Amino acid sequence: MSKLALDGKKICIGADHGGVQLKDYLKTLLVEWGAQVEDMGTNSEESVDYPDFAAKVAGAVAAGDFESGMLICGTGLGMSMMANRYKGVRAALCTSGYMARMARAHNDANVLCMGGRVMGQGEAEDVLRIFFDTEFEGGRHARRIAKFDQ
Ligand code: RB5
Repeated sequence: MSKLALDGKKICIGADHGGVQLKDYLKTLLVEWGAQVEDMGTNSEESVDYPDFAAKVAGAVAAGDFESGMLICGTGLGMSMMANRYKGVRAALCTSGYMARMARAHNDANVLCMGGRVMGQGEAEDVLRIFFDTEFEGGRHARRIAKFDQ
């Protein structure tokens, strides 16, 4: 498969013990595609609390320090719930390529969430590739996402 050209795009990533293996695998792809990746942990399979890592990544995206983030826990559910508490963060749990495409095209998602216990590496790679290769369509979708903060 062809490489994406992420050309120095700043992406921060995080995971809990349920997502660390998949996070590490996807990190190698992001780096290979030219992204500037900051890994905010966790870095072992020792049990940790996913909200702590969601807070690091979502906080950094909300602050404007990174264009995008990626968060992986066992299901992706807890990470997305926590990340969406940060204003300006649009975290999307994506379980298929279609979800990833729509999350970007219609919702302008800026944090990709996945579940390390519910997705294989191949499927997760497709989701990652499509998420970072899809532009926001704007137009009526911009009007709709503006309502998130009204
Ligand atoms: C940890 O056991 C698990 O609850 C976590 O990884 C995640 O799935 C939470 O949503």
